[in-house]
Amino acid sequence: MKYRVFAANWKMNIGPLEAREYLRSFFSAGQLPRGCGVWFFPPAVSVEAVARGVAGHDNIAVGVQDIYWEPKGAFTGAISGAIASQAGARMTLVGHSERRHVFGETDEQTGKKVAAALAADLSPLLCVGETLAQREAGETIAVISRQLEAALAGRAAGQSRVTVAYEPVWAIGTGRNATPQDAADVHKEIRAWLAKHAPGIVRILYGGSVNLKNVAQLLAEPELDGVLVGGASLDPHGWAELVRTGAA
Ligand code: PGA
Repeated sequence: MKYRVFAANWKMNIGPLEAREYLRSFFSAGQLPRGCGVWFFPPAVSVEAVARGVAGHDNIAVGVQDIYWEPKGAFTGAISGAIASQAGARMTLVGHSERRHVFGETDEQTGKKVAAALAADLSPLLCVGETLAQREAGETIAVISRQLEAALAGRAAGQSRVTVAYEPVWAIGTGRNATPQDAADVHKEIRAWLAKHAPGIVRILYGGSVNLKNVAQLLAEPELDGVLVGGASLDPHGWAELVRTGAA
């Protein structure tokens, strides 16, 4: 049975008090299926509550949604990998499309964040993906290759503790998901790029409007090693059901 990852990106939702309540409901839905990992990416202030709440569950891990690349200092509002790690994070998202498009994060900055995450012993979940205009112009693979190259440039050679998430921007929060075939086609290209330029990085998740209805069909595609889910991870019962459905 193939190991699959179910990553929940809560975005700017679920504070520390709500997180405790969420986990109570999530666990009341019963045991997680075998052969899967569940990763939670709460807002930074909720990381500690989630880390405490999932302690002892070997198949559940917690990460932050973003870090700054400097290790410490006068950077008001930012958090470093080391600070996130102290709060209980074991991983971090890097280069999510909302960071790129809402906050103007550049390819070069994602590279600094990947390197900083690894230096702080956090596993990066690196998000890449094209906009609708780029897809329609036939630039999908060129855009993703450029994003991968910049994001992985600063990492020590051979450092492969990175997971990639393919998240087409046009599919995020829009209700419009890539078909399993569309996703698999891009995953194959990403896999080929990684084999050539970053061997050892092999896990690729799909994200963008994944929900209870489409998760089984998407994960039936062997190219997908898991899913990164925003909206459909916010309800604890719905999320538990999505994990069970996808892992079946
Ligand atoms: P969505 O978000 O599932 O709400 O489309 C996915 C993501 O942004 O990671």
